[in-house]
Amino acid sequence: MNNKLWWLSVVSVLVLVAATTYARNFDDDDDDVIDDIGGERKGKILFPFISIVRFANSDCSSTNTMNGTCLARRECNNLNGTITGTCAARRGRCCVVSRSCGSTTNVNNTYFTSPGYPAAFAGGQACNLIVNRCNNMICQLRIEFLDLVLAQPNGDGVCNVDSLTITGGNTQVPVLCGDNTGQTIFVDFNGNAAITITVAATLATSFGRRWNMRLTQLGCDCPGLAPNGCLQYYTGRSGTITSFNYGTPANAVLSGSLVTGTRQIANTNYGICIRMEAGFCGIQYAQTGGDNFSFTVTGDVEGADNTVLGTAVGAVNGLACTTDFVVIPNPVNTATSQPIGVDRFCGLGFVPVTSTLKPFVLYVVTNANEGAVGATPPDIANRGFSIGYSQTAC
Ligand SMILES: *[C@@H]1O[C@H](CO)[C@@H](O)[C@H](O)[C@H]1NC(C)=O
Ligand SMILES: *[C@@H]1O[C@H](CO)[C@@H](O)[C@H](O)[C@H]1NC(C)=O
Ligand SMILES: *[C@@H]1O[C@H](CO)[C@@H](O)[C@H](O)[C@H]1NC(C)=O
Ligand SMILES: *[C@@H]1O[C@H](CO)[C@@H](O)[C@H](O)[C@H]1NC(C)=O
Repeated sequence: MNNKLWWLSVVSVLVLVAATTYARNFDDDDDDVIDDIGGERKGKILFPFISIVRFANSDCSSTNTMNGTCLARRECNNLNGTITGTCAARRGRCCVVSRSCGSTTNVNNTYFTSPGYPAAFAGGQACNLIVNRCNNMICQLRIEFLDLVLAQPNGDGVCNVDSLTITGGNTQVPVLCGDNTGQTIFVDFNGNAAITITVAATLATSFGRRWNMRLTQLGCDCPGLAPNGCLQYYTGRSGTITSFNYGTPANAVLSGSLVTGTRQIANTNYGICIRMEAGFCGIQYAQTGGDNFSFTVTGDVEGADNTVLGTAVGAVNGLACTTDFVVIPNPVNTATSQPIGVDRFCGLGFVPVTSTLKPFVLYVVTNANEGAVGATPPDIANRGFSIGYSQTAC
């Protein structure tokens, strides 16, 4: 190519880019086109390539149930978002992206809600959302159950009225139901495949059924990424871990053998990871105090004496735990520092233990039936667990 022609083409490319950038920034009907870098107006910027960034697309708080991202008005419209206010010193628009049944999203921080949220959803249909990666550097989807109230499982722990199923990812997610507000799960993407979140609420029953889940796409290099395969991931020196659908009120639905139902969900087999914080080498676990039901994993809650629930007398471990249990690797008794020698815990009480094995991880196993059949003593009215953890300094 001769020199003149080459320069001509460079100039025309520059003109084209400048024109496109100008158009992109000036065809909006509001003032969101001003750059926040030094507050300059776009028209004064001579070099067009850098003018695409106008202001940081940071989080902005919106309603009390959803946060938005600070975007230009037109960008928000392109995402089918809802503008809830201004941000970036009124140059941006706080844009909330929420989706309900039968939609697809590839937008970070999409909220998936029940129809008419926060009003109760009567049910009568299955509802799904298909989540695609927003780019090919995304490894994981963090799903925060900001509000999740579905029907309780049947008395045997099976989610037969309502169910939340998450498929397509590389992490096995148990089928969930009941009350799970406040729980967060992490689902690895399986390459470019979409993750589908399905809430089947096929039986129309009237109670406060509703959900609002925040879906955050985490890049492969994101510091908040859960280690591969961990369904739940806790950070911080201390915290409280609860099983899915944990709660103190009994499940009102009777089991197959007509005894008080369980809140524990059947067939959950998953790992809970806890980030080892800098300067900490061990982790103590203890059931939540002041709550008689905070470790009721197997056995007969109704038949047990009140003085047994939550005590060493109610605690069972080792090979005696065959159906539902929590696994803590190589524990020692926190009070005595004596090795326990086994790593399975079940029954109606939990003696505080400490583990120094890394990584910090707790496994949860429940079998196919949480009802009163198939085990001695039978499982009656179990609630699951609420366990506090606290890391110990090196
Ligand atoms: C909104 O963001 C704030 C600050 O990061 C956070 O504390 C809050 O939980 C978020 N709320 C929702 C509904 O996502
Ligand atoms: C926005 O809605 C339109 C019309 O329903 C649809 O074609 C488009 O794909 C949607 N865009 C996004 C980002 O969801
Ligand atoms: C999605 O949003 C969260 C929080 O707003 C942020 O930490 C994360 O990096 C974002 N993901 C991508 C791919 O930008
Ligand atoms: C909890 O246990 C205490 C004794 O350990 C008992 O007095 C109390 O009634 C129990 N509460 C419930 C709700 O069972």
